[in-house]
Amino acid sequence: MGDWTTIDFFSDRSLVEDPYPYFEELRSACPVLPLPHLGVVAVTGYEEATEVYRDAETFSSCNSVVGPFATFPVPLEGDDVSEVVDRYRDQLPMNEHMVTMDPPAHTRERALLMRLITPKRLRDNEAFIWRLADRQLDEFVTDGRCEFIRAYAQPFAMLVVADLLGVPEDDHRRFREGFGLSPAPGGMGTGEQEDVGLNALAWLDDWFAGYVEDRRRRPRKDVLTDLALATYPDGTTPEVTAVVRTATFLFAAGQETTARLLASALKHLAEHPELQDELRTRTERIPDFVEEALRTESPVKADFRLARRTTTVGNVEVAAGTPVMLLNGAANRDPERFECPAEFRLGRTNGQAHIAFGRGVHSCPGGPLARAEARMSLERILHRVRDIRLSEEHHGPPGERRFQYEPTWVLRGLSKLHLEFTPVEDER
Ligand code: HEM
Repeated sequence: MGDWTTIDFFSDRSLVEDPYPYFEELRSACPVLPLPHLGVVAVTGYEEATEVYRDAETFSSCNSVVGPFATFPVPLEGDDVSEVVDRYRDQLPMNEHMVTMDPPAHTRERALLMRLITPKRLRDNEAFIWRLADRQLDEFVTDGRCEFIRAYAQPFAMLVVADLLGVPEDDHRRFREGFGLSPAPGGMGTGEQEDVGLNALAWLDDWFAGYVEDRRRRPRKDVLTDLALATYPDGTTPEVTAVVRTATFLFAAGQETTARLLASALKHLAEHPELQDELRTRTERIPDFVEEALRTESPVKADFRLARRTTTVGNVEVAAGTPVMLLNGAANRDPERFECPAEFRLGRTNGQAHIAFGRGVHSCPGGPLARAEARMSLERILHRVRDIRLSEEHHGPPGERRFQYEPTWVLRGLSKLHLEFTPVEDER
């Protein structure tokens, strides 16, 4: 293994398993550091990352998802590339989604989204989440073992978004099939099926377009009708495609991220049996536990911005046109902000200050929902099973554990988590 001057963040497999020593190395060199590859400047400092997140005027989100792979048809030259960014941004990947937009277009799309996920909708969704947690657990709990991501985290996180958007429960099975998340025939969520969910969004767009068109023709008293009839703040009605895009993007943004949060939380619990007992009896501590899971294993590993103008971040010059990489998981372990940052500590006074959900105008609108999903899942799991442990068959014995993480530079998360546990009889 090399050091930060030779490691390519975008292709080095050694970073997949454990990126944290590399993040430390970057921060020690400088919290705002030009990397040797692809012209990227990496931000590992908490203050500096927050500064960039909060300055949507200087830093465009046009490359927020694909970073340095958002390439323009003309070179980005000079001290201000704003005009080129705005002229060609609709040629960049993901340009149709709000996460890559800047104000004022972003403000409009975000306002539409916030009309879909109102406080009332979130409250009604909560009632469903409690039921869903039990329904998912029913599928495998008596087995005493599961591959947690496939059996619980993925279908759970997907169906929460489906319900949030008002997809009728009668259609939930078809959604699971569409995402390739149905239980294996006759099996109990062993999770060894083919992943057929890769081109999920195409069928999903068609499906939602069907809902929206239907409800615009024949409004009913349901959430999908609210979705179909939602207007922009100026009172105009969005195109069907704009509503569909907003709705289906929630699956992309809210599903894998939340599933990985649930998995890292369960891994930590399995490794710390004493915490299982503590949280079972003191459920009011679960929210703190969730915050530490988000801080120490932030599911969004890298988020990007493009410098519109030549500027400075933390006294380091950043040239116009530079892709700036915000490493949330590194910023959340910045010792300047969090004492003994690698330690998982319940009851930190600044436990919620992490930036796992970003900051500023794009900060995650699903944050409260993801937190609620994790809290309710942990409560139900701890109520229904005891003695949660890692499967030695899959993860090796203590001292020689092995884990497989998603081979991506965007997300940080386990690929599989094999758990064993003791079901609690008649505890529903
Ligand atoms: C643990 C789970 C989650 C994490 C760690 C997470 C993280 C993030 C982060 C870091 C951003 C900011 C992106 C940027 O500034 O470039 C973001 C944006 C977003 N997230 Fe989440 N998210 C999670 C769950 C969810 C859920 C459950 C939903 C919805 C149901 C959701 C919907 C969105 C949307 C729509 C955006 C774009 C917002 C905008 O551009 O204004 N996320 N998320």
